[in-house]
Amino acid sequence: MDNLLFNDSFINGEFYSTEKHFSVDDPATQQSIMMVSDIDDDGVHKAINAAHGAFIKLKATNATTRSNVLMRWFELVMQHKQTLAELMTKEQGKPLKEALGEVEYGAGFIKWFAEQAKRSYGDVIPATDDNHRLTSFKQPIGVVAGITPWNFPIAMVTRKVAPAYAAGCSFVLKPSEHTPLCALALAYLADQAGFEKGAFNVLLSENAKMVGELLTESELVRKFTFTGSTGVGKQLLAQCAPTIKRTSMELGGNAPFIIFDNADLDEAVTGLMGAKFRNGGQTCVAANRIFVQRSVLDQVVDKLAKKVTALKVGNGLDDATDIGPLIYPKAKQKVQELVADAKAKGAVQIGDNVELGGNYQAPLILNGVTAEMDIYHQEVFGPVVSIIVFDEEPEVLALANDVPYGLAAYFYSQDLKQIYRVSEALEYGMVGINEGLISNPVAPFGGVKQSGLGREGGHQGLDEYLEEKYVCMKI
Ligand code: SIN
Repeated sequence: MDNLLFNDSFINGEFYSTEKHFSVDDPATQQSIMMVSDIDDDGVHKAINAAHGAFIKLKATNATTRSNVLMRWFELVMQHKQTLAELMTKEQGKPLKEALGEVEYGAGFIKWFAEQAKRSYGDVIPATDDNHRLTSFKQPIGVVAGITPWNFPIAMVTRKVAPAYAAGCSFVLKPSEHTPLCALALAYLADQAGFEKGAFNVLLSENAKMVGELLTESELVRKFTFTGSTGVGKQLLAQCAPTIKRTSMELGGNAPFIIFDNADLDEAVTGLMGAKFRNGGQTCVAANRIFVQRSVLDQVVDKLAKKVTALKVGNGLDDATDIGPLIYPKAKQKVQELVADAKAKGAVQIGDNVELGGNYQAPLILNGVTAEMDIYHQEVFGPVVSIIVFDEEPEVLALANDVPYGLAAYFYSQDLKQIYRVSEALEYGMVGINEGLISNPVAPFGGVKQSGLGREGGHQGLDEYLEEKYVCMKI
């Protein structure tokens, strides 16, 4: 096995160690994988300065050169797919087959933005008189800083760093303290691919608050990008305000998944299994509130129960595993509390809530969930299916939209007019129609309302790292 295991921050193309260390734990065994160094203030400033130095060089490079470097990074990531996937399963817990899928998904962003680097077109604007020529063109914003979450340790990094580099920006990344090892491996491979020294720096720390404050207050950092909870996103937005940074925020969701009575129920249940149980339910696009039309409720619950009870929970490194451990003990405790609250308020549990030990949570269905229950309003981030019955389309649309979030929504219907009506009425940034898995590097990912600002992936993802300059010339 090739060695992509590192334990120090990566600054200006070199590993940077500090006195203080923290443990990265395997969520499956709750044992330490390794101790990694915890960055100090000095290290954060060094990384920002290194990124600034790299930006001066990067902005003078041409798009084709950057595209070629990104394509080499993509190839290296794909060459090391198995090692990266095993590393991901160790530090994050997801089943190896899902981790292999995530490496490909994450590499897909690098390839997509290698291609898009060459397409950051400007405009020629028809002049309003004979004496002027008006144009606009795009330039990189500058140094970018970002914080990424633990649920997708590779894809959430490449989805930000690849478009930034394609645009000509340098990057300072603070990955989750739970999953820093994949981020370090990615930075090492980017360096091997030809990234300029300082173009991609990775800071390891348990103290996200300290690192977040230093990154957001820096005048040199011109753009801040975050994927994580809405609460932390609001805090970071406030911290970015004094220096008027550009921001992209991929925040929380509370995805409705609607099954209308005319749907193909087998397909709907299969789609729901994907939308709910991917990464054990630990995604912000996970189906969170499952609305089922009353006349098909029993059929849906029966079909679902058969599939859910067949799911195998275990260590992600075992081939048979469908659902790995939750990320840490507090995550499991939160799921258990939500289940207990729902049951106390009348929800009926299908499946055994057997105590599996460690961070393992048995998958469950809760039937009869209502808006009085906490689970209706909060992201479960675990393998629990909350079923809510409804009667009419206008009723379910009102319920689906009546939350502060607007990331992903899904519905199953075979009525074409209903498909248009519902997809237009859902107040969400992304809608899956007869499909439970919608994420794709070529498409814009992002939310409305308190689910965030900006889009990642798609051609839109590059613009997040570019400024448009208007040029007016008198002739
Ligand atoms: C997320 O859960 O934050 C991202 C999920 C995805 O990219 O599909």
